[in-house]
Amino acid sequence: MRIGLVGTGNIARVHAEALLSLDEPVELVGAVDVDAERVRDFAGRFGIPAHYTDLDRMLAQTRPDLVHVCTPPGAHRASARTALAAGVSVLVEKPPTLSLAELDELAAAQGESGPWLATVFQHRFGSGARRLRALLHSGVLGRPLLAVCHTTWFREQSYFDVPWRGRWETEGGGPTMGHGIHQMDLLTAILGEWTEVSALVRRQARRVRTEDLSMAHVSFANGAVASVVNSVLSPREESYLRFDFERATVELTHLYGYGDDDWRITPAPGFEQPVLDAWKAGETGHNSGHRAQFSAVVRALRAGAAPPVTAGESARTMRLVAAVYASARTGRPVRPAELGPGSAFYERMSGDDPDWITDPTGDRP
Ligand SMILES: NC(=O)c1ccc[n+]([C@@H]2O[C@H](COP(=O)([O-])OP(=O)(O)OC[C@H]3O[C@@H](n4cnc5c(N)ncnc54)[C@H](O)[C@@H]3O)[C@@H](O)[C@H]2O)c1
Repeated sequence: MRIGLVGTGNIARVHAEALLSLDEPVELVGAVDVDAERVRDFAGRFGIPAHYTDLDRMLAQTRPDLVHVCTPPGAHRASARTALAAGVSVLVEKPPTLSLAELDELAAAQGESGPWLATVFQHRFGSGARRLRALLHSGVLGRPLLAVCHTTWFREQSYFDVPWRGRWETEGGGPTMGHGIHQMDLLTAILGEWTEVSALVRRQARRVRTEDLSMAHVSFANGAVASVVNSVLSPREESYLRFDFERATVELTHLYGYGDDDWRITPAPGFEQPVLDAWKAGETGHNSGHRAQFSAVVRALRAGAAPPVTAGESARTMRLVAAVYASARTGRPVRPAELGPGSAFYERMSGDDPDWITDPTGDRP
């Protein structure tokens, strides 16, 4: 598997380290960045034989099977489009695009038997998440009734000094799009299709163009309801997911990645034996993270199959993000069917007006 990287900043280093640690045979054949010095240093550090400031040249000269897109979100679409047009599959960092319209455009550029577009949502890939999905589908936990999905993180003002952060046109949104999307993706990976969202957003304390917190109530087709909070204002940081099933509560508490010990299960009275037996017999041993997802992506591609997380799956999560903004903007519940072509929130996460989130102090950033 010949792999190229586009964008050689912070997360690209995590990608390179994870790729070089895989059991599957992979070769890093080329790297691209608009910053010539950065890409040269990056290639030297990871032993990558060729580096470029132009993606077309990298594709033509190194002929990769797969390209990892690690640029800021505003550049995802163009890089992914170029690679797909050259017949090369793409694994793009979250959020995959700035909008649902852009994501549909990339999905349409896929071929039936490849090239494919996959999105990095690494928290689906720890054994804890896979074990929970298996238990849910086995029926041992009973029906899902209630969920809590909190991304309460802390980012100081200086974090937003990076020019692409905190702006609709380059980051696509605030903590809903950029941070909580990880937990919301895992929420939907477990609970499936969502049917309605009621939300509010605020710009409470940071000088940004987007929100710095959002809160939402989400209904799911299976009858479950979830409370979602996304914040970059929370000094005690946590990523917290809680699922209350008929026969057990399952909780995950971590920050940027989890292992088996970060999960906790509490059976309902009378169900201790079957629930705990099933939990202990489930899959263990794999932390969430880029390495776990890359391994699954490489295995799928080598088998000639579409790699996880498919464009369709990431679209469900991106629609949930768009619904939070659309509901907060319109002040009413939003359903997925309202977010198709023709909706302002299909075209861009900010909808019809990039300045609709007002600052409580009255200041504009
Ligand atoms: N999955 C995760 O846990 C996780 C964590 C952090 C960041 N991310 C995502 O990774 C992406 C990159 O974030 P980062 O923190 O590494 O950013 P960064 O600013 O550190 O790095 C981005 C790099 O891309 C380069 N670049 C910009 N435009 C380019 C273009 N058109 N072509 C080639 N290179 C280009 C920049 O010069 C820079 O070197 C974002 O989408 C972010 O949301 C994901």
